[in-house]
Amino acid sequence: MTVLRIDGKALARMVSDETAARVAALVERHGIVPGLAVVIVGEDPASRVYVARKVAETVRVGMRSIEHRLDAATGQADLLALIAALNADYAVHGILVQLPLPPQINAARVLDAIDPGKDVDGFHPVNVGRLSTGTGGLVPCTPLGCMKLLDTVIDDYRGLAAVVIGKSNIVGKPIAMLLLERECTVTVTHIATRGLPDIVRGADIVVAAAGSPRLVRGDWVRPGAVVIDVGITRITDDAGRQSLVGDVAFDEIGHARAATPVPGGVGPMTIACLLANTVQAAERAVR
Ligand code: GUN
Repeated sequence: MTVLRIDGKALARMVSDETAARVAALVERHGIVPGLAVVIVGEDPASRVYVARKVAETVRVGMRSIEHRLDAATGQADLLALIAALNADYAVHGILVQLPLPPQINAARVLDAIDPGKDVDGFHPVNVGRLSTGTGGLVPCTPLGCMKLLDTVIDDYRGLAAVVIGKSNIVGKPIAMLLLERECTVTVTHIATRGLPDIVRGADIVVAAAGSPRLVRGDWVRPGAVVIDVGITRITDDAGRQSLVGDVAFDEIGHARAATPVPGGVGPMTIACLLANTVQAAERAVR
């Protein structure tokens, strides 16, 4: 049996094309160009790369990108004042504050200050609460992307055993909520979990979001399981060559039914879902 490679790039293109069509409809019917404000504080190189990609894709689907690059020494009050201005700006439909923030800033307070209707990251407590009660709201982009990838290979989630490795607020917890909503039996594991290999062996669906390269080995994965690899770690080998490595030893899971590669799996879906969330926020604003 060979594993079906779930092509995140191709699916992301489809999601973005659909977003572009929704943007065009908003422009044509309501004269509204959806706007996404991205706020970045400081010089973190990885964050700069992510933000540049987000901006490029935003423009490509026909939306307006509003960038705020703030100095690393920016204080909490100044950042909160900017959030308040973006909340009040009718041309801004989505607000994303790139994480991590510098240590002088309380990230939770900043996320709490974003208008939940513009919170395209889905990190505001109102959206977290909506997700956990299954009452709508904006859903975090990476978990949303994972579900769209799973939907390409799974029709009926009811009763499936799902194991989520990692309990982060950005990925682990929200994906667990989404799988629970589909009536999977969900186990969330984390750094202190005992007997992880055996827990994974019981899973029909494995979502690995630990940020630990090649943590999940072939003999942990049940034949026929579906594996989503959210991990992406840049490593340098002895010869100085750099590569991106997932949380799953992809070359060892030929017996799985389907799996996402790294790179080219979950990664491209995250930005596509960010844009989908932004157009959704703009559509709600015109209603
Ligand atoms: N930093 C790493 N991932 C994310 C994300 O999904 N959203 C934001 N805002 N910052 C991040």
